[in-house]
Amino acid sequence: MVQTTIDELSPTDRHLVEEAREATRRSLASYSGFHVGAAILMDNGEIITGANQENAAYSSGTCAERSACFYASARYPGVPMRKIAIAAWTRLHMPEEASWEECFQSHPISPCGACRQALLEYEHLYGPIEVILYGRDRVYILPSVESLLPLSFTEF
Ligand code: THU
Repeated sequence: MVQTTIDELSPTDRHLVEEAREATRRSLASYSGFHVGAAILMDNGEIITGANQENAAYSSGTCAERSACFYASARYPGVPMRKIAIAAWTRLHMPEEASWEECFQSHPISPCGACRQALLEYEHLYGPIEVILYGRDRVYILPSVESLLPLSFTEF
């Protein structure tokens, strides 16, 4: 894993992080107040974004990462996903006057197990997906989803 900052990212990665940050605006986080955005760079150059969508029947909601990868595959079936950037913010525990910018997590959040599994299966189909986890103070770059989910369940 590489630990870096937003300012040190390549223009492509920085743009993808910006898309993930913008995607948080499309989150529906009525229950948790935790807004997550994901942006996937496809092999055809397109960027597909997703955001968490919550529901009163909690488990019916979905995370930003799955909303993005399922939409990406439904929109461009068979096209490899090359990178995913993830960003999150919340107003919980923040002073009322805090700006939107300040509400982003200072340290990256990391995808939940279910999202790792979902992303991994696209990785197995099409090749490595680089994972860029955004935080205001630090950014983590992982070479693949596999690196986040070793010894995964893949066959039966
Ligand atoms: N969530 C994501 O969208 N992605 C993650 O990586 C972690 C959690 C969402 C699920 C739920 O809507 C909210 O964040 C609080 O857990």
